[in-house]
Amino acid sequence: MSATTTHPADLALVPQATRLRGRLRMPPDKSITHRALLLAAMATGGSRIADASGALDPRRTAACLQALGVRLDPAHRGAGAVDWRVESPGWSAWQAPRQPLDCGNSGTTMRLLAGLLAGTNLDATLDGDASLRGRSMRRVVEPLRAMGATIGAGGDTALPPLRVAGRAPLRPIVWTTEVPSAQVKSAILLAGLAADGVTSVTEATATRDHTERMLRARGVQIRTATVGDGAQRVSVAGGQAVGTLDETIPGDISAAAFWLVAGAVHPDAELVLEGVGINPTRRAVIDLLRMMGASIAEHPAGGADLGEPTATLTVRSSELEARDLSAADVARCIDEIPVLALAAACARGRSRFSGAGELRHKESDRLVGIMKGLCALGADVTLDGDDLIVQGGAGRTAFGLRGAAVQSLTDHRLAMTFAVTGLVASGTTAIDAASSAAISYPGFFSDLERVRA
Ligand code: S3P
Repeated sequence: MSATTTHPADLALVPQATRLRGRLRMPPDKSITHRALLLAAMATGGSRIADASGALDPRRTAACLQALGVRLDPAHRGAGAVDWRVESPGWSAWQAPRQPLDCGNSGTTMRLLAGLLAGTNLDATLDGDASLRGRSMRRVVEPLRAMGATIGAGGDTALPPLRVAGRAPLRPIVWTTEVPSAQVKSAILLAGLAADGVTSVTEATATRDHTERMLRARGVQIRTATVGDGAQRVSVAGGQAVGTLDETIPGDISAAAFWLVAGAVHPDAELVLEGVGINPTRRAVIDLLRMMGASIAEHPAGGADLGEPTATLTVRSSELEARDLSAADVARCIDEIPVLALAAACARGRSRFSGAGELRHKESDRLVGIMKGLCALGADVTLDGDDLIVQGGAGRTAFGLRGAAVQSLTDHRLAMTFAVTGLVASGTTAIDAASSAAISYPGFFSDLERVRA
């Protein structure tokens, strides 16, 4: 059998796989790594971060912090993981960067750092690549301005670069987010630690709570209250110190999602995924796939002591049934929607993913990217406003999906979704800008080879 090849023109060629077998250690979680780096840089003194993500996005966070005078020494582990030793003078003693801080492709780096810079007395510019320069920062800029920071940005949508003139102490605010967003919530809460009073953020659907858990683990008191059906308010009092901590980063459930879907939709598959973070605010993808009929076994693997439980997951070939996702479901698995669309394309019946407009504002317009890419591969996917409608096949992949050339829009999650589709589509699938996978999962294509039995 021929194997995946990466072409000099950054094209990955993925032939159909006859069987999928293997045990994979999931790459360290990107979201948690960003936060571990930022919180270690807020604390005064030394922290160690073991098994951190070595993907391009968290590396941007690390490089920005170095430019702010935080010492970060890496010890490379291979397979996209890094152990960091961090020594920080503390948040209030960061230095003004000499150049704009380059956040690359990473929205998390830009939004969370904007919150932190707002609470300093520094002037700094946050910039990014062409994709990030096209993403609105309005939802963080507005609350941070309301807290007293001065932020220059492009036009009504506040496009990067962001010129942040921080102000410590900030004014506390009571904020309700327009759409559920962990990045916006985190930026406001982190800024809230530099405010002279209690800052609170209310969101209609509870988003990933890594910032809250990780702050608590570092001695910060932070309150979460349920304020309605699925809604919550998170409050933090300013002036609390963030302690140093040694921490190990769990595996990334958003990376595991590609293998969960690949294993479920491939007719001859059994994959074991080790060290997967199953934080309750991130695990919706497992639960939704199970509701569709996916055979996923889960064995706890510890890690809950620092607030982030992990498990070993085993997925086997399954007959999937279509499932409608509500806007709240979409918010709970925002990063897994592209690969869930593949699952829906291989399920019996029609699935509607409602209120998925947020996907238009990710690293690409993912709604259009998913629709065009999966249609090119033989699936039946349409858009009805911001709803994604997927007409499934006969419940098994081989029915209809066929290899073709597809565009990833240089978006890591689209590139990986189409590569996984290539494992089940007939013939060979060619994905452009395939190296974008390294934004979150540098070892993705070697793992793809490993699972071909
Ligand atoms: C992230 C939150 C999500 C997600 C992104 C990472 C985070 O964005 O899409 O990949 O680490 O907080 P929003 O919650 O802003 O939609």
